[in-house]
Amino acid sequence: MTDAVLVETRTDDAAAWWRQAAVYQIYPRSFADANGDGIGDIPGILSRVDYLADLGIDAVWLSPFYPSALADGGYDVADYRDVDPRLGTLADFDAMVAALHERGIRVVVDIVPNHTSDLHAWFQEALAAGRGSAARDRYIFREGTGPDGSEPPTDWVSVFGGSAWDRVEDGQWYFHNFATEQPDLNWAHPEVREDFLTTLRFWSDRGVDGFRIDVAHMLTKDLTEPLPSRAELDALPQDGNHPLIDRDDVHEVYAEWRRVFDSYDPPRTAVAEAWVSTPERRAKYASAEGLGQAFNFDLLVADFDAPQFRTIITDNLAQAEATGSSTTWVLSNHDVTRHATRYGLPPLDGRAVKQGTEWVAAGGPAEGIDVAQGLRRARAATLLLLGLPGSTYLYQGEELGLQEVAEITPEQRQDPAFFRGGEFDGLGRDGCRVPLPWTSSGPSFGFGANGAHLPQPSWFAEFAADAEAADPSSTLSLYREALRLRRELQAEERLDWIETGRADVLRFSRPNGWQVVTNFGAEPFELGADADRVVLGAAVDSAVPGESTVWIAPTA
Ligand code: NOJ
Ligand code: CA
Repeated sequence: MTDAVLVETRTDDAAAWWRQAAVYQIYPRSFADANGDGIGDIPGILSRVDYLADLGIDAVWLSPFYPSALADGGYDVADYRDVDPRLGTLADFDAMVAALHERGIRVVVDIVPNHTSDLHAWFQEALAAGRGSAARDRYIFREGTGPDGSEPPTDWVSVFGGSAWDRVEDGQWYFHNFATEQPDLNWAHPEVREDFLTTLRFWSDRGVDGFRIDVAHMLTKDLTEPLPSRAELDALPQDGNHPLIDRDDVHEVYAEWRRVFDSYDPPRTAVAEAWVSTPERRAKYASAEGLGQAFNFDLLVADFDAPQFRTIITDNLAQAEATGSSTTWVLSNHDVTRHATRYGLPPLDGRAVKQGTEWVAAGGPAEGIDVAQGLRRARAATLLLLGLPGSTYLYQGEELGLQEVAEITPEQRQDPAFFRGGEFDGLGRDGCRVPLPWTSSGPSFGFGANGAHLPQPSWFAEFAADAEAADPSSTLSLYREALRLRRELQAEERLDWIETGRADVLRFSRPNGWQVVTNFGAEPFELGADADRVVLGAAVDSAVPGESTVWIAPTA
């Protein structure tokens, strides 16, 4: 009976693979460097395919690997249908996809449709073609204000800080939501729309299984004059009619994309990165007529706190059921402080993601961070996540229990958010993008034959994959075991809460009898006879220790 459910949800319906997938995010420049130039590359990923298979994930999501000046870590794309020569070739990409597919691992790539790189052929053409040209109409060009037009069209600020407008040689201004090198596209332009359909087909034809859509909620804009001031803009509700954010008309774009996705067998999948104002607005991105799934970042900004977790889980499962999508869980990615560090922050900062990371400015993990507690809580939270219905997105290095790296000097930093000082206040995002430690010794800890493009601290040795692979109590061993057992635990996308009599302990069961118990508090939680069926995490004297999770197998 149990097996029947399992087979039905995991293998019979190939089109539904994404619903409960464990997806591992690779940040290609920092994963593995095959040619020793200090930058991770596609052959590097190929060389680590066995590691990914041993880990037991269902899919990988690759952050951008396209030609790019790396003004924003590759999210400034110069050509959407090629591989950055520093990262490899299209042939390398094909070989990587084939090797992953051979091991049953699906491949998701990142699509960045809101903006191109300023080096993209279209933007270069727009610069050369001059004001009023058709080429400029693919972007958002405006005349400046002030007597000689030397003031920007509005006082809007970019997400990374500083003006959202930059001036080109002939005096016109262009709009960029992010860095200067990332001009926003004009999504009212038919060629822009058509070109992205070509890109989606290009990668789908190469065997890519799905897409992660960068800032999916920002593409369409209403820039009817007169443009509002920054203060007016900020005061407008984000209800579908805001000039810049989460406009209802963006879903026309995704309806077109869906037709492309569904023209493949199995249909290609997509997940929206959409930071929108309400769960209801997020659901629009996850609709079956649109992208199909949307990131749920609720736990990524929550405290390590049982009531918060319970509310978030209940609400998101209800919402997934209502929309027919499956929910997503995520604790870390390339934009936020690693959760093993976040959970070790002093209580008042515990909620902070990158905003409010004074701890880093104050001197790094050694000061004010409880590293052991951070890791303990991270392991507990991850085991809880992996037991939930829905898909889980894991970020490279979290399986090693990696901490955020604070020891990066201003000269070594790369993140435009650090230099522009906008929404990602503090030290920016480089600390979670430091190349992975594969071996506890050797050049760049086995990342490559030489150095690494961001400095690896000496304490990376403790987190090296080779050392952890050999240690059954390591975080890597825990992830491997959890991902293996997850295949047994997964069933119908439902859970039932079991009351524990404690506000700081969550316990639930899945329809096939598996149970997950997380103790968020310090006092052990007694399991009684159920302790005999603990197969993941450890019961001590038949109790769940503080800040830990156990999985309990069904009764035989
Ligand atoms: C979201 C991406 O995750 C982030 O890394 C990037 O800087 C912005 N979008 C702009 O593309
Ligand atoms: Ca390289």
